[in-house]
Parts: sequence; structure tokens; C-alpha cells
Amino acid sequence: MSDTHTVTLRFADGVSREVAVGAGQTVLDAALEAGVPVLHQCRSGSCSSCLAHLADGEAPIRPGASSTLMPHELAGGQRLLCVTQARGDCTFDLGYGSEEGSQPEVEAHAFVNAIEPVASNVVKVSLELAEGSWLSFRPGQFVQIEVPGAEVLRSYSPVSIESALPNIELLIRLLPQGAMSTWLTCGAKVDDVVKLKGPYGAFFLREKKRAPHIFVAGGTGLAPVLSMIDRIHQIGGRKPPMLLAFGCATPDQLFYLDELELRRQWLPTLQTRVCVDREATEGLVSGSPVSTLTAEDVTDPETVAYLCGPPGMMDAATARLTELGVKPENIFAEQFVASH
Ligand code: FES
Repeated sequence: MSDTHTVTLRFADGVSREVAVGAGQTVLDAALEAGVPVLHQCRSGSCSSCLAHLADGEAPIRPGASSTLMPHELAGGQRLLCVTQARGDCTFDLGYGSEEGSQPEVEAHAFVNAIEPVASNVVKVSLELAEGSWLSFRPGQFVQIEVPGAEVLRSYSPVSIESALPNIELLIRLLPQGAMSTWLTCGAKVDDVVKLKGPYGAFFLREKKRAPHIFVAGGTGLAPVLSMIDRIHQIGGRKPPMLLAFGCATPDQLFYLDELELRRQWLPTLQTRVCVDREATEGLVSGSPVSTLTAEDVTDPETVAYLCGPPGMMDAATARLTELGVKPENIFAEQFVASH
């Protein structure tokens, strides 16, 4: 029996590519060697950028590798291609078009234009790409920033959209002793220069989908979601019904409520629910954004959901939306894992 297997990668735009995957090789490595544009970033099973759905065949996780997928997600056919091998010929479906993964990673420099607190533990950082630098991204994708002086990388999804370039806005949660937080609160000043890399990630707006949209955001997970909503506002034509459920732990940690109000005015099809786990005051829902989701929110079987927040919330939202009838292939999620 041959040690090399034929893996078919089917993109959402109908393009299909066949790749020879050798023994001990991961599907991602084989795809990239063959020049197939599969989205990826960490290459170690932790960022979910290379998520695919096994449609046919047997494809186990590489021995010794770990993945952020839950057992039920693996059983349902989800795979992270950077830690997946082929045990025979198999076929994977990718949730994006063949053009989308071909966006090259670039490095850029940017000036700090402003750092403004927007909540008790969140700051808005406004950057402007330096002349000669350019870094575009899809709404929802993330970039990495090298923390000046600490030489470590931190990942953030811009809250702004591509058309605002060369300006990029980030919402950054301040973490005690966090490398970026320490720099932002103790060292950073206007006109400092930071190094960026990107874009990364398969969590981005599928612009062709016109079915109702549900967005679930926890904390600064609001950033990529607002970028998507702003992009929908920018695209011409009829807007889909949209529901945004956004939550933080306490009212002092909430931010961008005026910006949400503004978007409700721009987009009559947008409904918002703002939640806090504790100390709810008037106008706020007590509980997590997931707790607000009801059967009335999913009346169209093609409903699309975008989830961004801490892992527990993502798992709960995925389970709830699946229970309410959203198809797994229409649920797109990005976990925010705090990096100190
Ligand atoms: S590239 Fe990050 S999980 Fe595969």
C-alpha cells in the first residue's frame, strides 16, 4: 500500500485541488508545498485558521500533536489541517474561496496616533501605517504586533475596516502584567513606531451570504464583529437582518455603546442586546450574550453566525446555535485567548 495519499481540497467557490500527502506529513504542509492557498497561521493547532471539514476518508490528528477542537467537533468532521494527517485518500471542504487564502502575509510599520481608554480595562489604539507600508485585511482577520521593548508578538483584530487604511484601530484589553498592557500603560506615546505582521485567520465576513446574521461577542471580541458590521454597511444593496449579542462581566467593562447606537441608526436591520454577567443596570441584559439567544432568532435555516470571545463563551454559543438550527458550516468562530 502506498504511503502517499491523494487529498482533495474543495474551496467554497467551487475550485478543487488535489494534493499528494506523504507519510508523516500534515495536510497543511503538503498543501502549502503544492502552492494551494490554505489559510493558516500558528501551524501548531492553536489558532483555528486552518479549519476544514472532512467530507470523506480517514484523517487522524498527528501523533503527539494537540488541537483546540473539542471531541464532538472532531467527531463531526472538523479538522485543523496543520495537525492532520491522511490515512488513505480523503476530501476536505474549506469554508472560504480559493482567492481568500492567497492574501500574502506582509510586515509593516505604523505610528501610534492615539491611545484612549474606552472602559475600565480596554483601550482603543489608533495606528497609522508608515509611508511605504501597507497591510490590508478582511473584516474579522487579525494582525500581530511586536510589543516594543519586549520583542513578543500579540494578536489583535482591527475594529476598523480596510477602507480606513492607512488608519487601523484596535481595541485592546488590559491584562495585569501583560506585555502589551505594560507597554501601553507605562511606555507608549504618540508617534511611537510598532511593527505589524499579517493578515491572519479564517474568521472573516463571508460577503456573499445574505441570510440573517447573528453575531455573538464577548469583551474585545466585539472588534472583529464591528468591523464585519461596518463592512456590511459599506457593501451596497439590501442588508440582511442582523442580531448582535455583546457582553462583558460588569457595566464598567462595557465599551462602544454609543458606536453601537450609531450603527443601529445606520442599519435599521441591526438589533443589539448588551449584556453583563453581574450588576446589570437599566437597559442591560443580565447574563451572557448566549443566554439571550432564542428560537425566534433562528427562523431561517441558512442563518450565518460569527462568534468571537473567550473559549467558554464560544463553546456555549456554538452549542446553543446548533441546537437552534444553525448549520455547523454556517458558524464561524474565533477564540480570544488572553496572552500576558
Ligand atoms: S494554523 Fe493555527 S490551528 Fe492550524
